[in-house]
Amino acid sequence: MKKLLSASVMCADLLHLEKSIRELERAGIDLLHLDVMDGCYVPNITLGFDMINAIKEITDIPLDVHMMVNEPAKFIDMMNLGKEDYLCIHYESDIHAQRTLAKIRDKGIKTGLALNPQTPVCCYENLTDYIDMALVMTVSPGFAGQKIFSGAKEKVLKTRELLDKLGRHDIPIEVDGNISPANGAMLSKAGAEIFVLGTSSLFIKDKDMKESAESFRAVL
Ligand code: DX5
Ligand code: ZN
Repeated sequence: MKKLLSASVMCADLLHLEKSIRELERAGIDLLHLDVMDGCYVPNITLGFDMINAIKEITDIPLDVHMMVNEPAKFIDMMNLGKEDYLCIHYESDIHAQRTLAKIRDKGIKTGLALNPQTPVCCYENLTDYIDMALVMTVSPGFAGQKIFSGAKEKVLKTRELLDKLGRHDIPIEVDGNISPANGAMLSKAGAEIFVLGTSSLFIKDKDMKESAESFRAVL
């Protein structure tokens, strides 16, 4: 699979969001990573569903929605997502994750399952029939600008090993949190294929987004 860049929109210029999205289009970004937070599952609140639907209206870049909310099933129908989009839930946020993932799939939307740093890789094991992407959090979710956790590389290696052992070479690993070019290169070698780019690589003051995206791709 081609390595994909997923721009973390919560790190963009939120007061000029359409302008940022046009720059991301020009930069050749593959996905728009939209972080949804409920202030309970994580101690922060970011993009809401009206914002997501408004973004969906103005761009053809597929969406990569990252649900950091309790009981994500409650919110699936509030977004106008399509077959080109990903909707990713956290394992830890849903006692009926299998049912929720199946519901997302029934709507024709691609699914993702995210694990927090301390959640063991084996939690993917029983759900590989229901996921199109494995999101390995490389920071504890909730905030941009954090530092990658020490076990991130090992966790990506173990996730790739598990998925391959289960015959699921088709499920890509996405990494999210402090994905700098150096961390991206390291995690790409470990098996990551989708990279969430935020304050560590793409949204950097006075740096051209297209140049930053191209130089990130060059290290993968
Ligand atoms: C954090 C979010 C990430 C974050 C990435 O919970 O899931 O998408 O915005 O930002 P950086 O790249 O600054 O860590
Ligand atoms: Zn995210």
